[in-house]
Amino acid sequence: MAEDFMKPAPKGTYEPIGAATLQDHDGNSLRLKAGTTTVEVAVLADGVFRIGAFPNGRNFRYDTPATDGHEPVAPGSVAIEETDGGYTLKSGGASVGVALNPLRISFTDTTGLTFCADDGELGMGFFRTPGANVFTKPLGDAVKLNKQREAGERTFGCGQRSGPLDKSGTRQTFYNADPPEGHTDSMDNLYSSTPFTLTLKDGRAHGLLFDNPSRSVFDLGKETPGINSYESLGGDLIYYVFAGPTPKDVLRQYTEVTGRTPLPPMWALGNQQCRWSYETADEVREIAHQMRERDIPCDVVYLDIDYMDGFRVFTWDEEAFPKHRELLAELKADGFDVVAIVDPGVKVDENYPVYVEGREKGYFVRTAVNEEYQNAVWPGVCAFPDFASEAVRKWWGENHRQMLEDGISGIWCDMNEPSLFVPHQSTMPDDAVHNSGARSIRHGEIHNAYGQLMVKGVREGLLDIAPDRRPFVISRSGYAGLQRHAMQWMGDNSSWWEHLYMAMPQLMNVGLSGVAHAGVDIGGFFDDTTGELLARFTEFGVFQPFCRNHSVKGSENQEPWAFGEPYESVCRAMISLRMRLLPHFYTLFEESHRTGAPIMRPLLFEYPEDAKTYAADDEFLLGESVLVAPITKPGIEHRHVYLPKGTWFHYWTCERFDGEQHILAHAPLGQPAVYLKANTALPLGPVRMNTKELTDAPLTYLVYSAEGEGTATLYEDAGDGYAQESGEYARRTIRTRAADGATTITIEEREGTFVPERSLAIVDVRGIERPSEVTVNGERHDFDYEDGALKVRFPESASEAVIKAR
Ligand code: GLC
Repeated sequence: MAEDFMKPAPKGTYEPIGAATLQDHDGNSLRLKAGTTTVEVAVLADGVFRIGAFPNGRNFRYDTPATDGHEPVAPGSVAIEETDGGYTLKSGGASVGVALNPLRISFTDTTGLTFCADDGELGMGFFRTPGANVFTKPLGDAVKLNKQREAGERTFGCGQRSGPLDKSGTRQTFYNADPPEGHTDSMDNLYSSTPFTLTLKDGRAHGLLFDNPSRSVFDLGKETPGINSYESLGGDLIYYVFAGPTPKDVLRQYTEVTGRTPLPPMWALGNQQCRWSYETADEVREIAHQMRERDIPCDVVYLDIDYMDGFRVFTWDEEAFPKHRELLAELKADGFDVVAIVDPGVKVDENYPVYVEGREKGYFVRTAVNEEYQNAVWPGVCAFPDFASEAVRKWWGENHRQMLEDGISGIWCDMNEPSLFVPHQSTMPDDAVHNSGARSIRHGEIHNAYGQLMVKGVREGLLDIAPDRRPFVISRSGYAGLQRHAMQWMGDNSSWWEHLYMAMPQLMNVGLSGVAHAGVDIGGFFDDTTGELLARFTEFGVFQPFCRNHSVKGSENQEPWAFGEPYESVCRAMISLRMRLLPHFYTLFEESHRTGAPIMRPLLFEYPEDAKTYAADDEFLLGESVLVAPITKPGIEHRHVYLPKGTWFHYWTCERFDGEQHILAHAPLGQPAVYLKANTALPLGPVRMNTKELTDAPLTYLVYSAEGEGTATLYEDAGDGYAQESGEYARRTIRTRAADGATTITIEEREGTFVPERSLAIVDVRGIERPSEVTVNGERHDFDYEDGALKVRFPESASEAVIKAR
């Protein structure tokens, strides 16, 4: 008998929601009743729809960590029309159609295409188990949504994944875990879960967020080719649909609901060096010294877990790091910011104030029988803060005050799935209880958001402590909306060629899932890297939004100089190129902050109408204009590249190519295959050892010119703080036009009040013959022409500059 009681209940029988009746409506939503389930259909913004089904008489609530209760402002003009057997809600040209008997929901985009239609038979519903109780089914009934999958649909996104870019025909599990070493395609769920898909069909895009932070599974046409299903272990059935119709629209709509990446401080875009661990103050000094000595730009060095006293968070090992404030001040003076790791586990130790205070205030997660939940992590037995509670998040955030005052610049949040050691690399049980907040929550209900709630607390804490600075917070784990609080690094990859390849589809899908600021460990974390792998990894890594070299304890050192020549020179050149690219990166960060567009983009993001881009896994775009195709195999110098529509120039040789073409790129070590789009000026800064180094060196607008025209943007501001919000920024549009033997580059008037340090700019034009004349604003001007490059230096002011070469 007792045994029966302990056995988990079977999943139960799926019961689709049947006939529904209208209860009431307001300007932008309908409320329907189907048995004991209430369903709400709402238009949140043009092209943004939300459906909520709340079983068993439960109240409406949408304040999951995906949105934190934030709702876009509903459009003023939603037209609600009665149809034969239901209703449509129309806004901005897209609509949601509701059939009442049985309740089935479908959507139409602005081009008239119907998508995301409920499966006629299965619709949405719940798994019922007669006799189940809170012990056998702690999360209640599992929920499921079944949508028709159209022939030819391709599905992308799904957050952090191994395997290819295109997730069509697969099953994807969303359950945050610290996976075993050596991520492979057969590993489904990793550290973070973003239950969001971006779908393309015939060039048109739409998105779907299945907002449930408990364990979830998407079946994207694997079990039944004509069905996409979305299922969670319990909770409410809430989903959002984004009508596109372009991938850019979908990302804008998705991030209107889940938030956008805040502008990071400029130093966080610089090169970063990490290792588990630089174990003493002198070791950290030496790394910093080597960077400067060897002329390798570097902005950040890291402190991994060994800086702490017995891995107690918010403490210092006074022996290994005596006078740590002096160390941090010294590093700062040399242009280094220091980022320190903080894990969620708090060592159970009666003499450790953080633990004692947390326990006394009841701030730790409890077990099902109301004891403190404990498990082992690095410090030994630990308790785990209940980040679901606002008070706990505030307390946790405040605990970083001393670190910031001591001179730490950023916080790296790790192990926050949470990862636990008993059993090895397990996580918290579903029946653990979060009861320090407004309501008591089973861990399983919010498992996928535990790490996200941690970094929410950290970001808010850093903002309280240093309100004039932009927080820099890194997270390993996350849920939909992570981008509001932290950037995401991909955890423990390996020093394998396969993982250099995997980084691309992984980061592209993360970007398509709203997290624009992301990156993998350069060189690979586990295992020993080699000189060639490190060099090739760096050739790729400097193009990531986050550029950090990191490796596991006990592995071969893999700092840029670790393998001697020619690898050190390749790493130096690549990291210097990253430094040059920062004005472009920063412009893309600002665009992402405004629109939700990824920084590292799959080709399909810009060319959705070209189905050949859908399988482009191992090349990517930085914004619109820079295409990068890294070498991901040892011993080779050639690789295939697909160039999309337009005219492209090889960065190193200036060779010109027409797009919509497969080509073979030659990419010897030190010259990764990089192509620039014609007539799209690329702003390049000077090489500095760090981003804080003051310089008035000129900015270069690099333009590859070809018959036709194009535009580009440059965005600048102070690189930290918030003055840009009151207009202290500088944005300018750069137009390039090549026609009738003349190339004209118009650097339009500066928008905003920020004034960059420099006084000179250089226009560097490739792809043209030596001109007989160059004018700047109509006046003849000096120029250099060498090796096919035209260089025009001119004083840069806030007003428009027109540079014409003929
Ligand atoms: C985890 C992290 C890794 C870190 C290590 C020690 O494995 O993913 O980056 O170095 O813990 O803190």
